[in-house]
Amino acid sequence: MPEVQSASQAAVEHAPVNPWVALAYLVSGVFFILALRGLSSPATSRTGNRFGMIGMLIAVVTTLVTHVPTSDLSNYQVVSVFGLGEILIAIAIGAIIGITIARRIAMTAMPELVAAFHSLVGLAAVLVGWAAYLNPGAFGIAVPPPEFGFGSLPVIEPVSRIEMGLGIAIGAITFSGSVIAFLKLSGRMKGSPILLPGRHFINLGTLVAIIVLTALFAMAAPGDTMPLIVALTVLAFAIGFLLIIPIGGADMPVVVSMLNSYSGWAAAAMGFTLGNTAMIITGALVGSSGAILSYIMCRAMNRSFISVIAGGFGADDSGAGGGEAKEQRPYKQGSAADAAFMLEQAEKVIIIPGYGMAVAQAQHALREMADLLEEKGVEVKYAIHPVAGRMPGHMNVLLAEASVPYENVFELEDINSEFAQADVAFIIGANDVVNPAAKTDKSSPIYGMPVFDVDKAKQVFFIKRSMGGVGYAGVDNDVFYMDQTMMLLSDAKKMVEEIVKALD
Ligand code: TAP
Repeated sequence: MPEVQSASQAAVEHAPVNPWVALAYLVSGVFFILALRGLSSPATSRTGNRFGMIGMLIAVVTTLVTHVPTSDLSNYQVVSVFGLGEILIAIAIGAIIGITIARRIAMTAMPELVAAFHSLVGLAAVLVGWAAYLNPGAFGIAVPPPEFGFGSLPVIEPVSRIEMGLGIAIGAITFSGSVIAFLKLSGRMKGSPILLPGRHFINLGTLVAIIVLTALFAMAAPGDTMPLIVALTVLAFAIGFLLIIPIGGADMPVVVSMLNSYSGWAAAAMGFTLGNTAMIITGALVGSSGAILSYIMCRAMNRSFISVIAGGFGADDSGAGGGEAKEQRPYKQGSAADAAFMLEQAEKVIIIPGYGMAVAQAQHALREMADLLEEKGVEVKYAIHPVAGRMPGHMNVLLAEASVPYENVFELEDINSEFAQADVAFIIGANDVVNPAAKTDKSSPIYGMPVFDVDKAKQVFFIKRSMGGVGYAGVDNDVFYMDQTMMLLSDAKKMVEEIVKALD
């Protein structure tokens, strides 16, 4: 009996949480909530970021100081938990890589960077799930075998197996989905939807299979679990891939925030496996805020949330993404001097910034131009579309960087009715967000997305580099050819600097 005794003694459950640790995790959770609150407005976003950093510091330090290397759990489990030294080295390596990337990355490449980072969160969830499966003693989820009569194999409680299965499944979906999003956003893979025949049945079948496998994995005898967890992992990697390839370029913003949400849920599931409340809280906050953001973005683009997460439901094979052949149509071209002259005469100017402003880094010159116009008595407002640029809040960040007053910056629904009273709609590097095809052309990939009614303004100035360049969705824009439109073909920064010179 001595062996049975020692195995029973080795039965490990999550240790009761030290109240100081629980309090520290609670405080870090409060900081994360304050961070989200701060990030909801450009004016308070820096403070929000600081709160987030403080919360994370508290959570990491608490975890590290309460970390006890466990080496004596049992005689049947191989337990090898790294010591503090190894953990600090890993943190240092991660910090160096993170700081280097953050310093080098261009604002315009942020979305693909975010997608790449989400993939790492997903992969971490898969690896933690597998580590817990292979070494349950180290995670405090092993039950001593003799009581269950399964010989020398460690037994994992069914509830822990469900958490593990969920963590691995969500993590694998997040990983492969984020890798595809990264490839599409960085232009390494075609942005247009890849539509497999019968994809909805394949996706649904795969999802059902994952759920069934998770249930079987939770109920199976210890000796039978390995093939189930392998199949679960492989199918989850596959469904992440299958869900994202049919999503076209125009819907990518929703995908990025949706994967953000998945990465949060994966972290929360991982928190259950590790018995770490801070991870559960943080994961749930990221998961739910990502889901809310996805919902807001879907509304902004007039997309059904379900159709996007179901993998491009409703997308058809016609005309999505990828530059269409363009007909030659007459358009008017002007110079910086023409634009300056007309801007001076205007009473009200609405500026619509887009991705091209970010590429050209024209925000400071734009602010200078707006200041000069305001000095001359012109009313200047900025109109921000929720998906302008390449990431949520992209334009707000750039305008804040150039110290544009927040009270002059308006959301789509707050300003769209004002174009009818505007003398000039000044489009700088935007394209899809002002494309009327979204309202009129059912075959267009951006059909249904609310856009600015720039055609109602008396004059439209359109800054872009050439008539050949298209927006993200790859479609032509009727605004170029309207009677009241003057094309200002140049790099955005150069053009605005010339306008500033002419205004001076
Ligand atoms: P886009 O439709 O992508 O148009 C960008 C315009 O900027 C193009 O007309 C381009 O024409 C011009 N441009 C590029 N570089 C320039 C430069 N240096 N100087 C002047 N013009 C320049 O931009 P948008 O209106 O902001 O729309 C955003 C699109 O991106 C939407 O389709 C949205 O769904 C998608 N998207 C958004 C996000 C988020 S979360 N915001 C994420 C991923 C995708 P030229 O090449 O001729 O200059």
